[in-house]
Amino acid sequence: MRPEMKAPMNKVRDKWNRIYSKERLPGMPSAVLTDNADILPTGGVALDLACGLGTNSLFLAARGLEVHAWDISEVAISHLAEQARSLGLNIQTRVVNITAAALPTESYDLVVTSHYLDRSLPPAIMKAARPGGLICYQTFTAEKLVNKGPSNPDFLLQPNELPSFVPGCEILAATDQSHNTNENDPLAGRAFIIARKPGVSDGD
Ligand SMILES: C[S@@+](CC[C@H](N)C(=O)[O-])C[C@H]1O[C@@H](n2cnc3c(N)ncnc32)[C@H](O)[C@@H]1O
Repeated sequence: MRPEMKAPMNKVRDKWNRIYSKERLPGMPSAVLTDNADILPTGGVALDLACGLGTNSLFLAARGLEVHAWDISEVAISHLAEQARSLGLNIQTRVVNITAAALPTESYDLVVTSHYLDRSLPPAIMKAARPGGLICYQTFTAEKLVNKGPSNPDFLLQPNELPSFVPGCEILAATDQSHNTNENDPLAGRAFIIARKPGVSDGD
């Protein structure tokens, strides 16, 4: 990595480490998973990208998946590893700066990216899913009306952007709740998509 690239990533890591030093307990799993639990696999291997404290990893592992949980924050990852150990859940944690190059090929039955937007990743995420595997994205939108989520437009979805992340895939579920103003609704201000990569999974 070039030296000038290091500082921003260190800053990102430090910011999230500070947040997770205060906030130790994972919240509720993302609505993209809970609202669509019936179409998610209950076996195989899942990747939870930018997992944070791993609320989604814990949810998926409790349903029977082996989960690979990746995040840049070693503080979040160490909390998650401790939780997974104490609950006896199969979660393989990894401290990593997520880049397209870090993602393996055709390795996952499910790839989840929640509340994290890096537009360089979708093609690599498509590759990382196994044929027939599912890809789930959920994050805040640029048109959101709730006072939650990032303000930097780089981290906000443009209208109808999610389908462009999963070209050629079958869309199994999708919603855009940009105009939902109910602050208590876990989907308010967000959009999600669940898509199936073409091909037949080993489990079919
Ligand atoms: C808003 S949190 C989302 C956590 C979790 N996915 C959720 O939905 O609750 C964003 C996460 O992205 C992680 N992150 C930010 N930049 C990253 C990078 N370059 N590589 C890996 N993780 C990163 C942060 O450490 C943080 O845990």
